Amino acid sequence: MSKWIAKCKVKKILNKILYLIKLRIKNNTILKSISFYKLGKKFYDDPIFLIARDKSTIETNSKYKRTDVINRILSSRTKPTYYLEIGVRNPEDNFSLIKSSYKFSVDPGLEAEINKADFKFTSDEFFEKLLEGKILSPKMMFDVIFIDGLHLANQVERDIDNSLKFIKEDGFIILHDVNPPTEWHARENYMFFNSPARGAWNGTVWKSFLNKRFDNKLKSCCIDADWGIGIISKNHNIGNPIERLNYFFEYNDFDKNRKKYLNLISFDEFFSLIEP
Ligand SMILES: C[S@@+](CC[C@H](N)C(=O)[O-])C[C@H]1O[C@@H](n2cnc3c(N)ncnc32)[C@H](O)[C@@H]1O
Repeated sequence: MSKWIAKCKVKKILNKILYLIKLRIKNNTILKSISFYKLGKKFYDDPIFLIARDKSTIETNSKYKRTDVINRILSSRTKPTYYLEIGVRNPEDNFSLIKSSYKFSVDPGLEAEINKADFKFTSDEFFEKLLEGKILSPKMMFDVIFIDGLHLANQVERDIDNSLKFIKEDGFIILHDVNPPTEWHARENYMFFNSPARGAWNGTVWKSFLNKRFDNKLKSCCIDADWGIGIISKNHNIGNPIERLNYFFEYNDFDKNRKKYLNLISFDEFFSLIEP
């Protein structure tokens, strides 16, 4: 009896499978699945995708990170230090690791479930309130300001200009994501995760940094690690400005000339320039 019941059950299951296969053939689902698979494989095997993936891996595995650069600069100071970070997301990734006598963070909380920043608004609002004396003190000057907020050139340019008003004469403005390894990393639309760069996004920060490389009043360089750590100084001899050549800020031109345009140097080279 129980054998007969088992046989019936198997028959029922087989019929169901057969029905589903017939339905899928009827709706073309199998053919669609095969064509999606082929398309996906073509995408993953595309040399442009593979190059972008490999370049992302190199940046992610950089020996030195933004945190190392910031902490080494701050540790060489003899007086109490003041640090400001624009764009924090998860403080554990950088902000909490920074060793400074005083430190402050700004973030409107667009990318974190809980916004842990000290000042929960945009960088524009922060600097406006700072200038008006509504927060901290308009006389406050920072040793290091780390700009890592919205990665679009016009916003970064405003962040740099505002930071220049509040950076000590011997301080450093540091920018993350200045050296996008491919144009997919330098896309404007962060949300396009199907690009060969996947979720990695440097945006157009490089354009605002390059714009400052043409400024005769500023010295600058970019440490070739961790997606490009751009550094701007009023006084330290870390790199002379260059003549404005790239009027249109096209990626291919930047790519060919990035060493000169960004003044790309190594972590050790940078510290040999600023440490006695
Ligand atoms: C790349 S994450 C910051 C990562 C962090 N600095 C680190 O080193 O790990 C960018 C952050 O900038 C914030 N952000 C976006 N627009 C901003 C703006 N206008 N002003 C300040 N922060 C902004 C986002 O909410 C996000 O948390």
